[in-house]
Amino acid sequence: MYILGIESSCDETSAAVVLMEEGKREIASNIVASQIETHRLYGGVVPEIASRAHIEAITSITHQALDEADVTLADIGAIAVTAAPGLIGALLVGVNFAKSLAFANHIPLVPVNHIKAHVAAAYLADPELKPPFLAVVVSGGHTSLFRVENDTTFVEIGATRDDAAGEAFDKIGRVIGLPYPGGAALDKLAYEGDPKAVKLPSPALAGETLDFSFSGLKTAALNYINTCQQNHVEVPRADLAASYTRAIVEGIAAKTEQALKSGAYKTVVLAGGVAANSHLRSRLASLTKAHGARLSVPPIALCGDNGAMVAAAGYFAFMQGQRAGTDLNAWAEDHPAWEMQ
Ligand code: KG4
Ligand code: ZN
Repeated sequence: MYILGIESSCDETSAAVVLMEEGKREIASNIVASQIETHRLYGGVVPEIASRAHIEAITSITHQALDEADVTLADIGAIAVTAAPGLIGALLVGVNFAKSLAFANHIPLVPVNHIKAHVAAAYLADPELKPPFLAVVVSGGHTSLFRVENDTTFVEIGATRDDAAGEAFDKIGRVIGLPYPGGAALDKLAYEGDPKAVKLPSPALAGETLDFSFSGLKTAALNYINTCQQNHVEVPRADLAASYTRAIVEGIAAKTEQALKSGAYKTVVLAGGVAANSHLRSRLASLTKAHGARLSVPPIALCGDNGAMVAAAGYFAFMQGQRAGTDLNAWAEDHPAWEMQ
């Protein structure tokens, strides 16, 4: 069946048509309108501007997705929309649009959790992928480990207690003058520096827990920058990028390894916007190899927010019988009523 996926949780307006069936996972179209250039002026996402940009773009983006897939609404078996978590105003645009489209055209509507959608991106490029697996979700707003028991049941086994890895990248990127969002720029700059030059704390919490804390790392990097500036020493940006990237990557690798050591997982999925990080991709590739596990990571184009991942997650939810009514709402955080649905 064809699923139309709609995503508007942050600063990307996206619509995609995906063909999902038993043994078939095909992206017929995946249109992404990024607002990055607009928000770059402010050094970060401005929620009200994001909502307004979604309103302007969503209708034409959806038309484009249908046209490029060469289908009409009559061919669409379900509409999937991100309903949580994210910026509330931004989410409401996608939810309300999807709701109108679905109920005016008598098409089933399926609410999708954005985090599950990031993981579903891995299915699109990896037809062999099947639960159970360990999912490492690293994005601008989340950093969590999940035991994925089946296509829709996720159990969180570790999470950040404060900032997300993407937020940590973006903050230091901004302070050292890299364009927003800093993650991709730091990824490149890190190749030019010494990863052992600046001593930084690990974001992996000590002990049995699989939790992270990125705030101490962020503060240590900020203190380092302040000390350089107070001493009128130029901040060695490449060394800092390399050391900071190493701390984040090694922290995530440490907790992934701890989870792998339980022996419960043969497959690891790395997903979310930060899964585009080349250092993290290669570190987790070697780690999983060393543990005889398989790593499934979406292609870079499917790591950031996009409608195809929402459509893929929507398919699994649809097959589980999940449907939204005309009263569907949106939530900034995971909502207890449909926690990780
Ligand atoms: O998943 P995503 O598109 O949005 C959220 O759901 O949050 O993630 C966006 C985050 C941003 O923090 C961005 O800097 C980061 O992903 N990111 C990267 C890279 N590409 C994007 N971080 C590190 N290295 C990259 N190559
Ligand atoms: Zn995301």
